[in-house]
Amino acid sequence: MKVTVSIIKADIGGLPGHAWVHPKILEFAAERLRDEQKRGLLVDYFVYNVGDDMSLLMTHTKGENNPDVHSLAWSIFKEATENIAKKVKLYGAGQDLLKDTFSGNIRGLGPQVAEMEFEERPSDPLIIFAADKTEPGAFNLPFYKIFADPFNTAGLVIDPAMHQGFKFEILDVFEGKVYLLDAPDNSYDILGLIGTPGRYIVRRVYRRADLVQASVTSVERLNLIAGRYVGKDDPVAIVRAQHGLPAVGEVLEAFAYPHLVEGWMRGSHVGPLMPAKMINIDMDRKIATGPKMTRFDGPPKVIALGFQIHDGYLEGPVDLFDDPAFDYSRQLAAQITDYIRRMGPVMPHRLPPEEMEYTTLPQILSRLKPIPVDEYEKNRSQYLQFLTSQGSQTTTGPSHD
Ligand code: F6R
Ligand code: MG
Ligand code: MG
Repeated sequence: MKVTVSIIKADIGGLPGHAWVHPKILEFAAERLRDEQKRGLLVDYFVYNVGDDMSLLMTHTKGENNPDVHSLAWSIFKEATENIAKKVKLYGAGQDLLKDTFSGNIRGLGPQVAEMEFEERPSDPLIIFAADKTEPGAFNLPFYKIFADPFNTAGLVIDPAMHQGFKFEILDVFEGKVYLLDAPDNSYDILGLIGTPGRYIVRRVYRRADLVQASVTSVERLNLIAGRYVGKDDPVAIVRAQHGLPAVGEVLEAFAYPHLVEGWMRGSHVGPLMPAKMINIDMDRKIATGPKMTRFDGPPKVIALGFQIHDGYLEGPVDLFDDPAFDYSRQLAAQITDYIRRMGPVMPHRLPPEEMEYTTLPQILSRLKPIPVDEYEKNRSQYLQFLTSQGSQTTTGPSHD
């Protein structure tokens, strides 16, 4: 059976600030999706959050970019914004809904989308990743490790079905161009691109032997959509595992090392990506409550939910980072958080100016009046005396004619 897995996610208001999603919003979304399942649009669904982002996970047989599925997600986000987020004044109510009207496809309107249509295998394990306070390129390094690094994925060396390697589809979000590169043959080219995760994003990965699709990552760039910076994009991704694809444990292994990503406080800092546990999973109500973002609005966190899909139905989920073996990764991420936070407003903890969501640099530069260096060196003592007497750094300096 050909099934489509669609994840559409948005931040439509935080409780409090940018920390978490209000449980009422998760409940509202789950109810709406239950109705659509009864009406027959969806085969199955699940609702979950990480930090202030709610994801709608939907399975159906309508293919990718289906207007009915996209419109359903859009109306859930809109209604939850109007009926809940705005009513109780959640912070940033409707913040990711950048356009007023829906015209057939939710892409470009603000929410993030990851969709994959595939022929269900006899048994098909799915892993859903979602991260908060970071960008889609945050998945570049772990996805390279999963699909191209034999020190992470043993199967690349010892499973005949995977031995030919994987094909990487890399999107240049600035130029709107796609690169198709094979690992291991073009590994250095792949790394040359995806080492710049703000620009080149691993969007899809295919098994080379038969082009079975193994992963998809959301790639919408909110800052480019809005024409101005409106926040990091908080990505979602779908990965298929086992039987000739990386095993569940090989996929998760790539997240044991909490690598540094961009985002965090004010979308303007570098910090470790912590593999976080869910707070609660309610399989009956199909709602999973995810972690909060509280230390310096973070640190950036990723969650992993595991499902078995059967005829489009979702069995699970299992909270895959809920294993004591990931406690050390979390501990390490907490230590890196502590270490890097001590740098305060100094790079590389703070991002370079062009990547910052907030900046006061233009105002600072327009207020201060620097002195040409040759001029200053010639008359240094006069300048120093003058500035001391003025008690200010903003004057033009003494006259010395
Ligand atoms: C980062 C994020 C938060 C906010 C921060 C300031 O993606 O969402 O760290 O940037 O809390 O938010 P405002 O300017 O809304 O007070
Ligand atoms: Mg937010
Ligand atoms: Mg967020």
